[in-house]
Amino acid sequence: MALVSRITGTGSALPAQRMPNADLVAMLAQRGLDSSDDWIVDRTGIRNRYFVGPDEQTSDLALRACVAALEAASCKASDIDLIIVATSTPDMVFPSTATILQHKLTLAAQAKGEPGAAGGVAFDVQAVCSGFVYALTVADALLRTGTARRALVVGAEVFSRLLDFNDRTTCVLFGDGAGAVVLEACEHSGDGPAILATDIHADGQYTGILCVPGHVRGGQVVGDPLLRMDGQAVFKLAVGVLESTARAVLAKAALTESDVDWLVPHQANIRIMQGTARKLRLGMDKVVVTVDQHGNTSAASIPLALDCAVRDGRVRPGQVVLMEGVGGGFTWGSVLVRM
Ligand SMILES: CC(C)(COP(=O)(O)OP(=O)(O)OC[C@H]1O[C@@H](n2cnc3c(N)ncnc32)[C@H](O)[C@@H]1OP(=O)(O)O)[C@@H](O)C(=O)NCCC(=O)NCCS
Repeated sequence: MALVSRITGTGSALPAQRMPNADLVAMLAQRGLDSSDDWIVDRTGIRNRYFVGPDEQTSDLALRACVAALEAASCKASDIDLIIVATSTPDMVFPSTATILQHKLTLAAQAKGEPGAAGGVAFDVQAVCSGFVYALTVADALLRTGTARRALVVGAEVFSRLLDFNDRTTCVLFGDGAGAVVLEACEHSGDGPAILATDIHADGQYTGILCVPGHVRGGQVVGDPLLRMDGQAVFKLAVGVLESTARAVLAKAALTESDVDWLVPHQANIRIMQGTARKLRLGMDKVVVTVDQHGNTSAASIPLALDCAVRDGRVRPGQVVLMEGVGGGFTWGSVLVRM
């Protein structure tokens, strides 16, 4: 019998420090930069975001999201044989944040007298804001081939560390957070829960429109280590590719827009989400929106939004959920799931 993969639990985590627009606007004013709550809400839909404190790492947020997802799936750390972390803000240059997370999960399990997660597969995926969709696609493939049985697929970011707070066009857009799902291999069963189709792409000619150009060389950061973006170029590309990947993934699953119960898009900008929904003829009442509360948390935004909608009862078992991401690279893609 053919194997499929299905989501059996979701979890998420946010740092303690809330940063509403008013506080950010006040911080910008201290630097002589003019902005306003009205401008930010009108152009982006963002009202609030969260920033980590100085001692908090991507793996810390990821750990909290994973513990919640494991609990929702009624699993233990020792049940997990694959961890994929989508992030562009890893704890270290290497090893991967996934291996650091695996050890933190093991320590948390051992503190409860349970075995840990050592020995399984663990690696990071770097596809910026499309990272979670990429990671879910890779995990689905590994589970369907029997390479692993049960995965934690995580999006976790501390984008606040990459922001230039002297650039008002970018620093108002991003926040920190993490989201995770437990993905399990199971035998295919008709209309049962499963990842129905995936679709991922990249086009490297657009590297320059959204990037952190710097790198480490000989003990120094060489080049610009902060996020740079051509907002209008990103906007135009995003709306186009989000429509094409949504149509592609639906076609692969032999479904149409009318079969979608929920669109869970990357939470970059409410206007990009509205544009995508309009093109797919989906009402905004079918779109999960958290960008107002979290800002753009890059690879974390889709699993964070999914977890919110699962926990508040909007997303229910049996429903069809279309997740789609777009981001630096340029990368984009989607995953269609029956919950
Ligand atoms: C960034 C973005 C919100 C800017 O909106 P926009 O409508 O394109 O605005 P513009 O860049 O044309 O700027 C309009 C004006 O607002 C100003 N402005 C920019 N940021 C501002 C801020 N935070 N507060 C007040 N004014 C601001 C600009 O300087 C410009 O002023 P000017 O006309 O005097 O030159 C929009 O382009 C966007 O959302 N792009 C996609 C970004 C994204 O989602 N990236 C992540 C993808 S994963």
